[in-house]
Amino acid sequence: MRLRRRYLLAGGALAGAGAAAGFLATREEASAVAASDVVAFHGVRQAGVTTEPPAHASFVALTLPAGTDRRALGRMMRLLSDDARRLTAGEPALGDTDAQLAVLPARLTVTFGFGPGLYRAAGLPSPVKDLPAFPIDRLEARWSGGDLLLQICADDPLTVAHAQRMLVKDARPFGAVRWAQIGFRRAYGVQQPGFTQRNVLGQLDGTANPAGAARDTAVWRPDGSTTLVVRRIRAEIEKWDLLSVGDKENAVGRRMVSGAPFTGTREHDEPDFAALDTTGLPVMPDFAHVTRAHVTDPALKILRRPYNYDAAPNAAGHPDSGLIFASYQGDIERQYVPIQQRLAEKDLLNEWITPIGSAVFAVPPGCTEDGWIGEEVLT
Ligand code: HEM
Repeated sequence: MRLRRRYLLAGGALAGAGAAAGFLATREEASAVAASDVVAFHGVRQAGVTTEPPAHASFVALTLPAGTDRRALGRMMRLLSDDARRLTAGEPALGDTDAQLAVLPARLTVTFGFGPGLYRAAGLPSPVKDLPAFPIDRLEARWSGGDLLLQICADDPLTVAHAQRMLVKDARPFGAVRWAQIGFRRAYGVQQPGFTQRNVLGQLDGTANPAGAARDTAVWRPDGSTTLVVRRIRAEIEKWDLLSVGDKENAVGRRMVSGAPFTGTREHDEPDFAALDTTGLPVMPDFAHVTRAHVTDPALKILRRPYNYDAAPNAAGHPDSGLIFASYQGDIERQYVPIQQRLAEKDLLNEWITPIGSAVFAVPPGCTEDGWIGEEVLT
């Protein structure tokens, strides 16, 4: 049994710590409460991309008004970078009206993305363009597009809420909030780090993500930039509920409990797409999500960093759940689009998922302690 006994409980959170520690000590997968953990904001690359995803996220997209120019964008990004630099270090933002809410960063990251409209406003060619329309799309304007994206992630939802409030307040003079989406993964401490999370459909989600050097090749360009696709994908949970476990597994080509591919027994066994069963059919069905999405060339893989969403059920009790599917890759056209095209053409999972929002962003490199995000683009 592996237990982590480091409980970083800061300030007022100490009350009840003894009882909490006693409770956690009885659980095999108990872990540290990482209230004070800091993820560095500065660096060649922005944080919040290849950083292990914390439990909570808010994605906020802003629209710039007509007439916004490069100088205004520079002022905005200096201000927002300063907020992000302070908040991610557990310090209040300048003019923070609730400084106490800033002191537990809980691995807070703030990642900035620039949509095609931001480059238009700056009079520059955009490194990203909107995705082509796919036949499976049922996109709604209220979840789509955006000129500036703030991806705010932390292990504590109050930390996320406070950072969002500070950043949006300072962004307000420069643009309007177009959409905001709140997402979650397993709470910190519920699973040991390194275990694959489950999504709202009950699947282990993230197994075949590239890791280590292969991940870096897929995600980062030499200058430290990358790109982000955000898709809001509704899960048709009540239709999904009608399936047997076997049917759910067929949609993906992996087992629900273990996450193992049909050709293996353990989650991280490599699927064998050439294996045939006794009737001569592929063991990994050709219509299964994994078969359709699989990419062999490491340079063409994508890094999925999805969050679940679960909005209020409607009056009749029907759920409103799904994924805020976030994917990072060096080049959307070369890496993301071909996968999405194959999935749109044929993927059994399409019966139970519906894309209702879509947005693309360039993610500029990180910055030094004296710099700001976007400086190499906007100056
Ligand atoms: C609600 C929507 C989706 C759900 C529930 C879902 C679920 C899953 C599951 C359960 C797996 C297998 C385990 C794993 O490797 O993580 C998987 C794999 C994968 N998915 Fe999705 N997925 C969704 C949307 C997408 C989209 C939009 C894309 C890209 C356009 C995508 C690309 C992939 C890729 C590349 C893999 C790994 C395939 C491999 O090489 O084995 N997925 N997905």
